[in-house]
Amino acid sequence: MYRSHTCGELRMEHVGINVTLAGWVQRSRDLGGMTFTDLRDRYGITQLTFNMEVNADLCEQARKLGREFVIQAIGIVIERSSKNKNMLTGEIEINVTELKILNAAKLPPFTIEDETDGGDELRMQYRYLDLRRNPVQQKLIIRNKVALETRNYLDSQGFMDVETPVLIKSTPEGARDFVVPSRMNAGQFYALPQSPQTFKQLLMVSGFDKYYQIVKCFRDEDLRADRQPEFTQIDCEMAFVEQDDVLNTFEGLIKHLFKTVRGVEFEGAFPRITYAEAMEKYGSDKPDIRFGMEFVDLTKEAQGKEFAIFDSAEIVLGINASKCSEFTRKQIDELTDWVKRPQIGAKGMIYLRYNTDGTYKSSVDKFYSEADLKVWAEKANMQPGDLLLLLSGETNKTRKQLNELRLHLGNSLGLRQSDVFKPLWVLDFPLLEWDEENGRYHAMHHPFTSPKPEDLHLISTDPSKVRANAYDLAMNGVELGGGSIRIHDRTLQSQMFDLLGFTREEAQSQFGFLMNAFEYGAPPHGGLAFGLDRLVATMGGSESIRDYIAFPKNNSGRDTMIDAPSPLDDKQLKELGIKKA
Ligand code: AMO
Repeated sequence: MYRSHTCGELRMEHVGINVTLAGWVQRSRDLGGMTFTDLRDRYGITQLTFNMEVNADLCEQARKLGREFVIQAIGIVIERSSKNKNMLTGEIEINVTELKILNAAKLPPFTIEDETDGGDELRMQYRYLDLRRNPVQQKLIIRNKVALETRNYLDSQGFMDVETPVLIKSTPEGARDFVVPSRMNAGQFYALPQSPQTFKQLLMVSGFDKYYQIVKCFRDEDLRADRQPEFTQIDCEMAFVEQDDVLNTFEGLIKHLFKTVRGVEFEGAFPRITYAEAMEKYGSDKPDIRFGMEFVDLTKEAQGKEFAIFDSAEIVLGINASKCSEFTRKQIDELTDWVKRPQIGAKGMIYLRYNTDGTYKSSVDKFYSEADLKVWAEKANMQPGDLLLLLSGETNKTRKQLNELRLHLGNSLGLRQSDVFKPLWVLDFPLLEWDEENGRYHAMHHPFTSPKPEDLHLISTDPSKVRANAYDLAMNGVELGGGSIRIHDRTLQSQMFDLLGFTREEAQSQFGFLMNAFEYGAPPHGGLAFGLDRLVATMGGSESIRDYIAFPKNNSGRDTMIDAPSPLDDKQLKELGIKKA
């Protein structure tokens, strides 16, 4: 037996018993007659003591222990004379009587403690060492709990876990596919699934009316803090459901997860807003509603006063950054520079200050009388001491830019607290999205999403106005998940492919299997998928999903630890039919 207890387990009640511990040496302190060694495993840290007067040999041995040596220590649990209240095991220590080095270790490239001196790159290269650190382990512990409680909840609701294939067929919709060459079918390729979408729909046709899977998905897209090339979905589908059934079921899942994993209880139903409203109020389909600053449309009020920039704009929008009238000229200039950066792309920013003495000050005083400015202030519900910031231009662009400014202000004013969680459903997404570059429509969610029956008549006349039975769950400015009620009728599905610019042959060759299946009794169905990585990162109060993945890729899609991707040798390339023999 290597150990009788873990390094996080011993308390005052264990004083006097003989124990065997095993773990890694976090550090040793040599204080003349005494040596103290912190022994770590994933459960915690326990202090080992060696007394020169009691056993000089053993103490000498302990002095030679290096960081990260793997050791086994046998000894008696004793009460500490100076207790450490910050440690769960801080009231006791082990008076060691026997010490065994199980494995020596090279000096690690960074300190393996809560606060480390290792940079990001180094830690990723030695991720197995980084993973020994408590804060990193805690994140994977949350992830494990979320996955476990997901299974518990969905199982209790009658969902069945069914695995779907990983080697599938490349399809042109969505992100770029990762592809895998087939040795047995030279010149042909599998694709890795971007999601199990079509398979879960086929399972509905097969009669598995409540499906789920915690499943790896692969997308070859540019990476960001909340995007990885391989990520995990909690993927779900239900038959014989309408939108409300799906939303209620998965609102239940999210509530269950927050309660069991974080101890957070949400009161009442999650708010629901339409996509159109989300864009109008926040310029984002995943609004962060932890704070206000909703957009105020001032187009009507601001135009017709000879201020050319506003007069020529499609829209003039403002946000009331409450209590910010004290912002100095320099701070406002900095904000203006911030929105003018190429990543944001605004041409400029106008402000209106409602001073605490009741007067107004604006960067466009020249064009607007005090009475004009008062109208803006009233519409923006400004109180003395508030600051209104305005952007103008083309509607979609201005909304996007103001969304960025709103989030930026939210961050700098400390309004986006990581332990506050504000979910909301965003409903009625547009069915289609116009792709400027290729001059065609794309399905905004995916081509299997059903249009709203009341908008069907617009499909041939004004497709961009057709709304879909599609929904997302957003929380704290993050899209946690999304889904839709699907098309289950072959004719409508085929009409959808027409609209997306597929020829009949293309549609048949890409998705014939699904359309054929729809001819054999497809039930009405719908579902959604949550991004597990994003869900756990949000629960943990982080915007980056990387820390919540044991072995993530860096921003160039590389795993620097195993050095992937890497070239293949000629023999392999020939075998795969990629290089001529
Ligand atoms: P969608 O493409 O919206 O829907 O994906 C669902 C959720 O998966 C997460 N996600 C990602 N997480 C990390 N890295 C990525 N690259 C990444 N891409 C997506 C997001 C997102 O909300 N089959 C449909 C779902 C359905 O209709 O049922 C789908 O995949 O949290």
